[in-house]
Amino acid sequence: MRVLITGANGQLGYDLRKAFAAEDVIPASHADLDVTDDAAVKEKLRATRPDVVINSAAFTRVDDCETEEQKAFAVNALGVLHLARQCQALGAVLAQISTDYVFTGEHGRPNREDDPPNPPNVYGASKLAGENFARAYCARHFVIRTSGLYGVAGSSGKGGNFVETMISLAKTGQPIRVVNDQVLTPTYTADLATAIRELLRTNQYGQYGQYGQYGVFHLTNSGACSWFDFARMIFQLMGSNAKLSAISSPEYGAPARRPTCSVLENCKMRTNGLPVVRPWQDALATYLRERGNR
Ligand SMILES: NC(=O)c1ccc[n+]([C@@H]2O[C@H](COP(=O)([O-])OP(=O)(O)OC[C@H]3O[C@@H](n4cnc5c(N)ncnc54)[C@H](OP(=O)(O)O)[C@@H]3O)[C@@H](O)[C@H]2O)c1
Repeated sequence: MRVLITGANGQLGYDLRKAFAAEDVIPASHADLDVTDDAAVKEKLRATRPDVVINSAAFTRVDDCETEEQKAFAVNALGVLHLARQCQALGAVLAQISTDYVFTGEHGRPNREDDPPNPPNVYGASKLAGENFARAYCARHFVIRTSGLYGVAGSSGKGGNFVETMISLAKTGQPIRVVNDQVLTPTYTADLATAIRELLRTNQYGQYGQYGQYGVFHLTNSGACSWFDFARMIFQLMGSNAKLSAISSPEYGAPARRPTCSVLENCKMRTNGLPVVRPWQDALATYLRERGNR
């Protein structure tokens, strides 16, 4: 299977390259392929003829999206349109990586694949537009929504990840304030990349018929916590006595509004008999061990 990965130097892109190493992988970093360039997308896909395109490229700086709306929609929406059109023309599968931020989550329960999206901010709105382009333009599409990513490569867009930020802050000895009113599922990109490989295999082996298995999937580690609980678990696993306290989102005052509950119930993975991804605490413990060995 020939797999083209966009955003290949990003946090998830790095682990996707590892997870698909046994396949014929074409890694396309931002420098190799700018998804906002329609002609470049056409040329790249026609030259390489992938069976599957995994689009992990995105403008991921949520707060900056509020003031850089055009860029957010150019990358996160029109970029997907460009890829979807070429995938459809070539008969390729498009796996579009999307986000829990398409939900505001005010109902306070995990969001299911069939819940109506209602993004709380520009980033979420641009990612939702990208989802819609994937669905409208490419019959053989997976829209894979995930949440709270961290991985060994760190987010190239954000210059790190939440775990590394917490570890750095703890080293300063300063008090650390983290929001306790936003609930998510922290997800390790290595686990996500492996689960994406399993999901795409259902298509490869034709288990579910020509179109049966395509559509929207929620894919995260299991369980849920607030950002504060996440930080507390990082310090507990590291044996750190960081000065951590809980604050509310209004006290933190981020420019972009965040969902109150962006937990994604992985209903379709379960009902299609695909493996449940391990609890977030176990994944975090593995990440902390692996980063220690680097
Ligand atoms: N991070 C999270 O917590 C989170 C949560 C839910 C969903 N997601 C989604 O998961 C996916 C992967 O996120 P991530 O954490 O791996 O983010 P990341 O590390 O910021 O990776 C995104 C990659 O996209 C590249 N990129 C940006 N603009 C591009 C363009 N116009 N053309 C081609 N590539 C471009 C970036 O390159 P440069 O850095 O060189 O610009 C970067 O390598 C994204 O779709 C994101 O929306 C992320």
